[in-house]
Amino acid sequence: MTQETGLVQDVLDAQWQHWQQTFAERPEMFGEAPSEAARKAAELFTHEGVRTILELGGGQGCDTLFFAHQGFQVTVLDYAEHGVQAIAQKAQRLGLSLHVMALCHDVRTPLPFANDAFDACYSHMLFCMALTTPELARLSADVRRVIKPSGLHIYTVRTTADPHYGTGIHRGEDMYEVGGFIVHFFSQAKVAQLAVMAQ
Ligand SMILES: C[S@@+](CC[C@H](N)C(=O)[O-])C[C@H]1O[C@@H](n2cnc3c(N)ncnc32)[C@H](O)[C@@H]1O
Repeated sequence: MTQETGLVQDVLDAQWQHWQQTFAERPEMFGEAPSEAARKAAELFTHEGVRTILELGGGQGCDTLFFAHQGFQVTVLDYAEHGVQAIAQKAQRLGLSLHVMALCHDVRTPLPFANDAFDACYSHMLFCMALTTPELARLSADVRRVIKPSGLHIYTVRTTADPHYGTGIHRGEDMYEVGGFIVHFFSQAKVAQLAVMAQ
């Protein structure tokens, strides 16, 4: 690793503290309403007979609790402890604890689950975080491993058509930092590349 790539890696790693602090200071940063992506995913999950969902980067749980409320069994991961604690507390308050398992985990390390453990994997704006393409490729392959052979993998990202693409501080590849948050902007080619690498 060169000094320059080491410095970039330090900046990418520092996003963990940034998310921790952000959630500590803003307990309802994303509000309580589920995302449009979660609503659409839930329709598809119901249609496909999905019961168990692995959610990556669940944040403060607005989509997690929505899925649980719909009757899905959700295991949600995030590396920000404040987010994970908030999800577990909200699930308890809403009587949804039996439908939600919230765990602290960095998706840059192997997913702590057996092969074929879930019917589906879902993430809203996790793949476009400060993750390099090799890390995304490893994660995609690991998602492929932990979902059933016929399982669904649904994720959302910000794209290179986004008005913020190319603005702010460049942090390597197609990653840019705006307002302290690093976003990895996806091209259509990157989505296809990751799908192939997950095979
Ligand atoms: C843009 S937020 C989206 C949160 C949630 N999905 C939502 O839509 O409300 C991205 C989330 O990914 C988490 N995250 C970023 N990098 C991560 C990593 N390497 N491992 C696990 N979680 C990560 C952050 O802590 C944050 O909660």
